[in-house]
Amino acid sequence: MRIAIINGPNLNLVGRREPDIYGHESLDAYLERLTQAYADVDFTLYQSNHEGDLIDELQRVGFDADGIVLNAGAYTHTSIAIADAIRAITAPVVEVHISDVMSREPYRRVSMIRDACATMIAGYGLDSYRRAVDWLLALPAKS
Ligand code: DQA
Repeated sequence: MRIAIINGPNLNLVGRREPDIYGHESLDAYLERLTQAYADVDFTLYQSNHEGDLIDELQRVGFDADGIVLNAGAYTHTSIAIADAIRAITAPVVEVHISDVMSREPYRRVSMIRDACATMIAGYGLDSYRRAVDWLLALPAKS
């Protein structure tokens, strides 16, 4: 099983950024632990603050990975281009958010990518990533 975890803008600052919302643990440290806990899964980790780079990575992994965990950060709320990239690839994509976007500012309740994704998991803190990995692992195997 190959799972790509892709993080968008400002997620490199999790742990230092608004800790009341995103917590005190760095995402790098959390994802290091998470990926080590799944010995049978082949993970790739990618983070960028740039929309086009995120699209390049989705295209790069999107035809070979068995699943993608995507936290597009604020591009979630604006990017038709990322939504188009998700629709263009074959791997199922889980939209992930650390915070509960549906109970925050109205503009965060809008997701341009939601309809393109297989499901959405939000509001569990960093555990949202683990839940997304488990969701992908529970998918029926491709024949
Ligand atoms: C986020 C929620 C977004 O609204 C925000 O722009 C982020 C992080 C989350 O993980 O909760 O950067 O995607």
